[in-house]
Amino acid sequence: MAGGNPVQSAQNPPAVVASPALVHGVCTVFPRSHYTAEARINVSFIDKDGTRIDLQVAEGDNLLDIAQANDLEMEGACGGSCACSTCHVVVEDPDMFDKMEEPSDDENDMLDLAFGLTETSRLGCQVLMNKELDGLVVRLPAMTRNLQASDFEGK
Ligand code: FES
Repeated sequence: MAGGNPVQSAQNPPAVVASPALVHGVCTVFPRSHYTAEARINVSFIDKDGTRIDLQVAEGDNLLDIAQANDLEMEGACGGSCACSTCHVVVEDPDMFDKMEEPSDDENDMLDLAFGLTETSRLGCQVLMNKELDGLVVRLPAMTRNLQASDFEGK
């Protein structure tokens, strides 16, 4: 093979590089041209086993997309359209909860259906990360309503 890179050739293609969204610890759900180290925001999830997962995300990412991109157990049955409660999260710090935008009426209606509703419950798909929420910690409730994405097909 004259002049070619002996490591990267048709017979020996370069190794597949994992999507940044799949690299544990750094979530870049939607690639953004302005995404820089300064733009990273810290968010932590506490899963149903009590394990804490610390992540860095970009402004505008929502908690459902972040959880699913990192293989956390969040169903998101309606695909983030605020029509179920399977993305229910509990914000650990009430002060951080107060920094969030108020939930919409639709979100409150769905939260009323959630198991284990608390004073600091939110729907993950409705919470967009921003710099004010740097350090946010949310807990995944032990149970959610038993809805699945297939329940929303054709609707
Ligand atoms: S995914 Fe259904 S309300 Fe969030």
